Formats: sequence, structure tokens, C-alpha cells
Amino acid sequence: MTLRFPASLVAVYLVASALLVLGQAEEQAADVEFDNNWNSRLGCKCPEGQAEKQAADVHFDNNWNSPLDFECPEGQVITSVYSIHGDSYHDRRFKFGCRKVVDVNIPDFCRWTPSYVNVWKQPLGYACPRNFAIAGVSSFYLSRYEDRRWRFKCCRDNDYIGNPCAITDYLNDFDQVLNFTASARDVIRGWMSWYDGKTKDRRHQFLTCTMTK
Ligand SMILES: *[C@@H]1O[C@H](CO)[C@@H](O)[C@H](O)[C@H]1NC(C)=O
Repeated sequence: MTLRFPASLVAVYLVASALLVLGQAEEQAADVEFDNNWNSRLGCKCPEGQAEKQAADVHFDNNWNSPLDFECPEGQVITSVYSIHGDSYHDRRFKFGCRKVVDVNIPDFCRWTPSYVNVWKQPLGYACPRNFAIAGVSSFYLSRYEDRRWRFKCCRDNDYIGNPCAITDYLNDFDQVLNFTASARDVIRGWMSWYDGKTKDRRHQFLTCTMTK
């Protein structure tokens, strides 16, 4: 894989590496909201260097190695997911986007999965029940496993069915950016991911369904 970083980023890399040796940066990162995510730039190997610039402006829903708890506002479901991988954290940060899909009004019924749906480092495959959509996610990280376990909040509107459904391609390569936005009438019903022990990362895929009366 070819890395094309400007010299300034290489300098940032060297400083960042020194800080990590001292073990300070990792502790600080749990609490501090940096204005620019130098470590996310580190982890980014995107073509044209665009994604790492954009990531500096993204307000992520979780910090490195920290718990993630996200729920859409009432009436909305998750329709976009943006995520970057930080090589030195062996973790991903996520940014979720919600919206009302057509005139689906989702509070009819919601429920969280009673427990975490995946085992450390094992494939994750979860689908909400038929006609439900993902409206919240929760996960936590353990450095011992360099992985996250996930739970999902599923909601439905009794007036709508989710059909047809389709499985996306892989939405990211290992270590790379994930940037997904569902089509106008689509919701995310299921989430699949595969762990790779070499990159300590997961590749993700979604099960999407089109909302119809
Ligand atoms: C994600 O991709 C869309 C185009 O599909 C683009 O407009 C948007 O800027 C990207 N988001 C980020 C944060 O890179």
C-alpha cells in the first residue's frame, strides 16, 4: 500500500509516535475533544488525501477506545454512517446520521437487543426483525481484544413494511474510511462485520430495506 503524506503529516506522525511511546496520548484521548484528529490522519490511507482533511471537521459519536452510545431522535432512523480507523488505537470512530425516511414515524415500537450480538473478534451478523430499522447503536471496546462488542436499537412503524431488502458490498477496506448514506427510501435493518487479526479492524456491510406502505 502506498502512503502519500505531505512532509508536515510525517512530522506529526513522528511527534505522535513519540507521545504514544510515553503512553500519554492514549490516556488523554479518552477525555479530550481535539479540534483536529491527528491520529485519524495517521490512520488514513485514502486516495487524494481527501478523507483525512474531512475527518478533521467531523464530530464523531465516540472517542478512540471509548464506549459508543447513540440514538436517533424520535421518529428517525440511522441513514448514514461515517467511520475512520486509527491504526495506533486499533479502533474506529463513528459518526451517525439520522433522518425521517419518507413519512415513516418510528415510535410505534422500539427495542434494544437484550445483550451484545457479537463475540470478540468473531464475525458479527445481526438483523432487526422484519420491517424494523436500526435507530440506535451501542458498543464498547476492550484493548485486551482490540475489538468492540455491539448492541442495536430496532424500531418500526406499523404502517410500513421494509421490502425489498438487499445486502451492501463491503463498505470499507481494513484500516480505511467507511462513508455510507442510504438511498432516500431505505433504512438499515441489519449490520454485518468481519474482524481481521492483522489490522485489528472490521469490514462492515449493511442489510438495507426499502420502506413501502
Ligand atoms: C461521504 O461521501 C459523500 C458522497 O457520497 C460526500 O459528499 C461526503 O463529503 C463524504 N463525507 C465525508 C465526511 O467524507
